[in-house]
Amino acid sequence: MTHEQSILVVGGAGYIGSHTVRQLVDSGQKVVVLDNLVYGHREAIVDESVVFVEGDLGDRAVLDRVFTQHHIGAVMHFAAFAYVGESVTEPAKYYQNNLAAPLVLLDAMRAHGVNIFIFSSTCATYGNPEYMPLDENHPQNPINPYGASKLMLERVLADYSHAYGLKYAALRYFNASGCSEDGKIGEDHNPETHLIPLVLEAAAGTREKIIIFGTDYPTPDGSCIRDYIHVHDLARAHILAIQQLADGAASFQCNLGTGIGHSVKELISEAERVTGKQIPVEIGERRAGDPPELVAAPAKAKELLGWEAEYKDLTKILETAWAWINGPRQGHF
Ligand code: UFG
Repeated sequence: MTHEQSILVVGGAGYIGSHTVRQLVDSGQKVVVLDNLVYGHREAIVDESVVFVEGDLGDRAVLDRVFTQHHIGAVMHFAAFAYVGESVTEPAKYYQNNLAAPLVLLDAMRAHGVNIFIFSSTCATYGNPEYMPLDENHPQNPINPYGASKLMLERVLADYSHAYGLKYAALRYFNASGCSEDGKIGEDHNPETHLIPLVLEAAAGTREKIIIFGTDYPTPDGSCIRDYIHVHDLARAHILAIQQLADGAASFQCNLGTGIGHSVKELISEAERVTGKQIPVEIGERRAGDPPELVAAPAKAKELLGWEAEYKDLTKILETAWAWINGPRQGHF
């Protein structure tokens, strides 16, 4: 892996992908983005040096073209579907895009002699927590097709690593959050289901209210606890992971989280402080499949990558998300 080679970022026009692309470019790396723009946004790729290819990760002809035309040294894969609820009602969509399509990508990589792969995995592969915080040895028993599709691909990667010498990192994200410090790019899902953007939209008045999904959980204030990890920190971990693998490290899996949990109620209060607005709240029913608490044990990432979250303060995370909602994202409403 040299700086003459490019990194192929599949899903580079999406939320986490686009932040990683910017950091790659800032570190002097050449980047090719492949994105089908089903959920991604072309305008999220702000650097002109990036080569953008519109296409699907399961399209072998497009992949052959990309691998032939560009000198690709490694692949980062951010192009999974990630709506947990939808994965339950439309599992075929998830197994197709999150499992079958990446198999085509991995085949194309083998055919073109590319063997470094960074995979966006998830804490959803652990399923219902048996203990807290979650370390990487926690049993992986996902409770929805989204988590299952991610775990299946992790298994594929382990087997390909063993048999074909693929070098991979499976990075298990906790709750991706926040936006770029300069407010230029950020979280823009359609439909939006994630807590932080919904809370901030309620603060901005573009959403009537936020519904808290359950206040009868066995947590101190009864609402669910999550580990919110800033997208800048996630992106940084990808760059460190690719360097490690390129320098000869063995394949690995690790959590990416802060190790700090915040409840839904706590987050809403903090958002009120950050925005200076009163946020209309309604207490609703529990959402199916929500574990009471998901917090990472982040030690392995520190040990392997020298990585730990820089954004450990929820206030800062909310400030970056608020700057984005009031800035470029406004035009998207
Ligand atoms: N929540 C609400 N009201 C809302 C939206 C969310 O109370 O309107 C609560 C949820 O119940 C949960 C917390 O806010 O307790 C966070 O919910 P998000 O939907 O923002 O995130 P999740 O924790 O459900 O999901 C995240 C990732 C998924 C991943 C999952 C792992 O977005 O991709 O973690 O469990 F699968």
